[in-house]
Amino acid sequence: MVYLHSKDDDCMKILVTGGAGYIGSHTCVELLNAGFDLVIIDNFSNSKPEAVEAIKKITGKDFKFYEMDYLNRELLEKVFEENEISAVIHFAGYKAVGESVEKPMDYYINNVSGSLTLLNTMKKYGVKKLVFSSSATVYGWPEKIPLTEDCHVGGTTNPYGTTKFFIERILEDIYHSDSTWGIAILRYFNPIGAHESGLIGEDPQGIPNNLMPYITKVASNELEKLSIFGDDYDTKDGTGVRDYIHVVDLAKGHVLALNKLEKEKSGLFIYNLGTGNGYSVLDMVKTYERVNQVEVPYEIVGRRKGDIAICYADPTKAKEELGFIASKTLEDMCRDSYHFARKKNR
Ligand code: UD1
Repeated sequence: MVYLHSKDDDCMKILVTGGAGYIGSHTCVELLNAGFDLVIIDNFSNSKPEAVEAIKKITGKDFKFYEMDYLNRELLEKVFEENEISAVIHFAGYKAVGESVEKPMDYYINNVSGSLTLLNTMKKYGVKKLVFSSSATVYGWPEKIPLTEDCHVGGTTNPYGTTKFFIERILEDIYHSDSTWGIAILRYFNPIGAHESGLIGEDPQGIPNNLMPYITKVASNELEKLSIFGDDYDTKDGTGVRDYIHVVDLAKGHVLALNKLEKEKSGLFIYNLGTGNGYSVLDMVKTYERVNQVEVPYEIVGRRKGDIAICYADPTKAKEELGFIASKTLEDMCRDSYHFARKKNR
């Protein structure tokens, strides 16, 4: 991937909400490496201050950091007053599917109201460039596989997914009311892996919901065995198939999206960020065991409610329009996940 940005972009200051989180921290590293100036805000609701230090250590670069809640309009305005922000990358938000079913209000308030507060503040300060962290979850039950960006969205299966869908809608309405905005909506497939330094990665609190963190905890003897949710799907080995993408590839996609907004000046752009490859749960377990020389005991249990059999992206649009190519392999993803876990536990 080649980063194209003109000379006067060299001092562009980007506000990153949720920059200490899993995808946020990896993106901050890539942004700093690509020469952008950063201002990061995070309330550490699902991340740790160590991630902020790690971003500095990996890149050898410094940036302004505010520990704050992005719903706090007064503090948010202070950030815009104190810094000449050119564009925003918006990661902040709750993301646990199960929890969102239990506490929908928390999800709608934090994700949707929070985004509105941010957008309103951006408007007040004349900042009209935004990259939004969305998810393939907006496709609900996939209309077809592989998923293209023009597939039907909505019909989401949980409040978390619905918040992403609502925010996408809000962004579309804002753009239609004022076409001087430049908005890139990035729909992530299944981000896994960690930075090769092992200094940042995914570190969920408690028992993980997603496959890769669960496998990692089993491999690290923190959990006894993996439950595989169903082996009777219409897939090659009966287990669910997903499009796993290395978080560093995904992070680079944000830099490319930002460059696109700079180049086009305005517009509304939607991209799938995936690899276009589908791997089954058993593929994941076997690859993880082989690459890391560990055992991942598992048992087959019933299907998880709301799960689909197969989901993967058609990444053509992101490739053609952004030059986005996910270059890391499944082996890289498995190795880097384990490397991060081992380093953290040491
Ligand atoms: C889930 C979320 C999605 C979110 C994404 C983040 C749901 C319905 N969707 O997607 O909104 O954006 O995570 O990456 O939860 N599996 C097991 N055992 C486990 C965990 C998972 O067998 O302990 C299987 C699942 O059945 C699935 C695959 O592994 O086939 C991937 O699951 P997961 O990592 O939770 O991701 P998604 O369900 O694709």
